[in-house]
Amino acid sequence: MIKSELEKLISDKTACIGVIGLGYVGLPLIVEFCLKGFRGIGFEVDTKKADDINNGKSYIVDVTSENVRKCVDAGKLTATTDFSKLSECDAIIICVPTPLRKTKDPDMSFIISAGTEIQKYMRPGQLIILESTTYPGTTDEVLQPMFEEKGFKLDQEFLLAFSPERVDPGNPQFQTHNIPKVVGGVTKDSTDVAAMLYGQIVEQVYPVSSARVAEACKLWENTFRAINIGMANEMARLCNTLGIDTWEVVRAAATKPFGFMPFYPGPGIGGHCIPLDPHYLSWKARQHGFDSQFISLAEQINSGMPGYVVKLVSTALNNERKAVNGSKILVLGVAYKKDIDDMRESPALSIIDLLRARGADISYHDPFVPEVTFDHAYTIGDGEPLRNVELTDDRIRETDCVIICTEHSTVDYHRVCELAHLIVDTRNALTVETRNGSKAKIVRL
Ligand SMILES: NC(=O)c1ccc[n+]([C@@H]2O[C@H](COP(=O)([O-])OP(=O)(O)OC[C@H]3O[C@@H](n4cnc5c(N)ncnc54)[C@H](O)[C@@H]3O)[C@@H](O)[C@H]2O)c1
Repeated sequence: MIKSELEKLISDKTACIGVIGLGYVGLPLIVEFCLKGFRGIGFEVDTKKADDINNGKSYIVDVTSENVRKCVDAGKLTATTDFSKLSECDAIIICVPTPLRKTKDPDMSFIISAGTEIQKYMRPGQLIILESTTYPGTTDEVLQPMFEEKGFKLDQEFLLAFSPERVDPGNPQFQTHNIPKVVGGVTKDSTDVAAMLYGQIVEQVYPVSSARVAEACKLWENTFRAINIGMANEMARLCNTLGIDTWEVVRAAATKPFGFMPFYPGPGIGGHCIPLDPHYLSWKARQHGFDSQFISLAEQINSGMPGYVVKLVSTALNNERKAVNGSKILVLGVAYKKDIDDMRESPALSIIDLLRARGADISYHDPFVPEVTFDHAYTIGDGEPLRNVELTDDRIRETDCVIICTEHSTVDYHRVCELAHLIVDTRNALTVETRNGSKAKIVRL
């Protein structure tokens, strides 16, 4: 009954879609539904974000303000901090953060808080989907009992599913509509209706037999990346030791048309996913007495990269008869990846922190990031916030060392090579041509 009612609302496009958490994941998702003709209500705890949306303004790089405005003006999209409106929604999708605690255990507080609001305002006939990345079992062990506690029966009064988000911020080729969506319900009806819903906005939906499979699938994907990046980082250090050009080796290996997939080294891993998600899996495995060694090893190698970059910088300065202490160091790019503004878990923060603890005089240039704060738990440097500086000729000339931490495409690397004394390139941002014409000494990862 609930299944057929929801299917009708979805096929008529009269279903109202609620999205809890309008961040990198939730905002593109709700806009996609609204552009397809559904009415969407976005639920936020951040009043400014809700106001921005209602004023037709996007704060997410992959969503244009034009599209937000279009949806708001058509009366399709509203954002609110009033969770009582959850009762208006036929489908509710949870896209709240899933960080780690200081102990690196999963921090479930955001999911529980969203679940509590749903529990308060849910009514019979709703489909609830969790999209936040989390350990296998969250949907049926944590959320399902919360809704059943209200006296609602699964498959009769509500449906429940997990569908991992795979958005890759800043990727122009793959966006919500053309990234295949894995969907796993706690029951068969939940899978079917959730798959039908996503089928309205994505080209390919891949149903699986349970929410746990869908939860594990997301963690497998991101653990695969974390481990392969860990291997690339180890290979970079190995190649450096042997005096071989790491990047040339990867490029050559990538010509193999099967059995090899290139991953690239860097100053460390960042963002809300790759550094965190494998911990969700290993934490859950540990509860069952299983110790996942690949995950620990990759974590050890990846989290050691900022320290390795600092070592490269101090050796390079030492070769110039300079100490880190008192040297002017300019960090180019602080976002965790190219051409986006996301600073979460960015390895640049650790590098700056480590260098400041050694007495370096740090500035940074990043056109996407106006200010950097060091309010995370592990600050060992002076912790003073930094503001973006302009990349003037004088600034580059006066700097003892430039570290390229993020290879934003707006930076003129040719000019940097013309004016700098010393460059540590952790991203292979400098092409062979740029390097060939360089007046600066260049150290590469
Ligand atoms: N960013 C990515 O590239 C990406 C990719 C795939 C999966 N994910 C996963 O998706 C989830 C969301 O990530 P994100 O990057 O969108 O995070 P985000 O921080 O960009 O957005 C989360 C939003 O939720 C809001 N919020 C927090 N608690 C809330 C609550 N109780 N009610 C309503 N709103 C609340 C926050 O204010 C914020 O705007 C995480 O589990 C993450 O691991 C992220």
